[in-house]
Amino acid sequence: MNAPLPVQVLKQHLIDPEICIRCNTCEETCPVDAITHDSNNYVVDPDICNGCMACVPPCPTGSIDNWRLVLRADAYSVQDQLGWEELPGEKALPEAVDAGAGDEPLAALADTPAPAAPASFSSAGASVPPWSAAHPYVNLYTHKAPMTATVVGNYRVTGADTESDIHHIVLDFGELPFPVLEGQSIGILPPGTDAQGRPHHARQYSLASPRDGERAGYNNLSLTVKRVTEDHGGAAAHGVCSNYLCDLAKNDTVQVIGPFGHTFLMPNHPRANLIMICTGTGSAPMRAMTERYRRRIDTGENGRLMLFFGARTERELPYFGPLMKLPRDFIDINLALSREAGQPKRYVQDLIRERAAQVQDLLSDRNTCIYVCGLKGMEVGVLDALREVTMQAGQDWSILHEVLRREGRLHFETY
Ligand code: A2P
Repeated sequence: MNAPLPVQVLKQHLIDPEICIRCNTCEETCPVDAITHDSNNYVVDPDICNGCMACVPPCPTGSIDNWRLVLRADAYSVQDQLGWEELPGEKALPEAVDAGAGDEPLAALADTPAPAAPASFSSAGASVPPWSAAHPYVNLYTHKAPMTATVVGNYRVTGADTESDIHHIVLDFGELPFPVLEGQSIGILPPGTDAQGRPHHARQYSLASPRDGERAGYNNLSLTVKRVTEDHGGAAAHGVCSNYLCDLAKNDTVQVIGPFGHTFLMPNHPRANLIMICTGTGSAPMRAMTERYRRRIDTGENGRLMLFFGARTERELPYFGPLMKLPRDFIDINLALSREAGQPKRYVQDLIRERAAQVQDLLSDRNTCIYVCGLKGMEVGVLDALREVTMQAGQDWSILHEVLRREGRLHFETY
């Protein structure tokens, strides 16, 4: 057992700015609002953080899991952390404090396990992968040592006459290893600097291709990128990285970091079923998983696939053409179109309710995993729909929800 820390010493929770990809997961997860950010860094307020660890498992990079022993009076302030380009090294504590630490030296206390995540862990999704997921590699390439990839394809996958300019971009890694799994993401470092003259931070994109490459057997992968021309409120805004990516030409090179993500992963055992729920570019991981299944369609290993896909219109739904060519007995496709002329507005959650019997049938199978990716707003609607479907079948959603989370069978990636 490790000795308790002397009261004047704090095991301060810090975020590594060199690895953090600014995905906001930690800030959303923190149950006590100790995590904030500015345009430079994500930081932890030492006066608020209680070391509950709720933010640690969901972090896709591990940048969240950094700790320093400091005197409480000398704790790094939020202001200090906002200015950092890298984490400070360990500082020696005054000898008087060290002596008061009990039988064990302070170095040993650095490994003190923090308390387990509280039951009130706020995320609706799991913080563990499905039991059979393959082993993911993360952080192989970093801000300091990125990988150079070559663009081998860049195609628009939405109707040319629509506002949704979504591109399918294929990157090749040549001879260098870049092992990935479906559901993981990578970071792209856009060239140039921000308003403060600092290099841009990496932007995170989910893979749209399966582990064995956009083209099977090739050392490449694909991304689904929407050109950002306005902010969430509809005001004009130029997305630095999305515009950079959508304008790339064949043979251009791109700086890549990652891969990231160790929980939003597909099950790897035979006859596992997937329920995939997405909107817009949230289709990227669903495409990756579906393609993984399609490539082994003749093996008899596949379970069932059920897809709920939301878009404004058919022409704004990325990959509409290839998706509709997939055999009906391979994947059960449900398109929720919200602005199609002559059709009622529908969201993915409406279709989940309409297909309640089939959804319930899959939910009651322990081989089923559920993936939700896309607009943040859909999260509540999808959870409500799943609750209703379960209740209609006379079951208790709160129990099933907890089981799905504990077994790594319900995953969200929303933005
Ligand atoms: P809407 O027509 O109401 O915007 P986008 O094209 O903006 O990426 O959105 C993809 C799809 O997600 C659109 O059909 C959009 O409908 C729909 N959508 C918007 N809000 C929600 C929500 N809260 N739940 C589910 N779908 C939503």
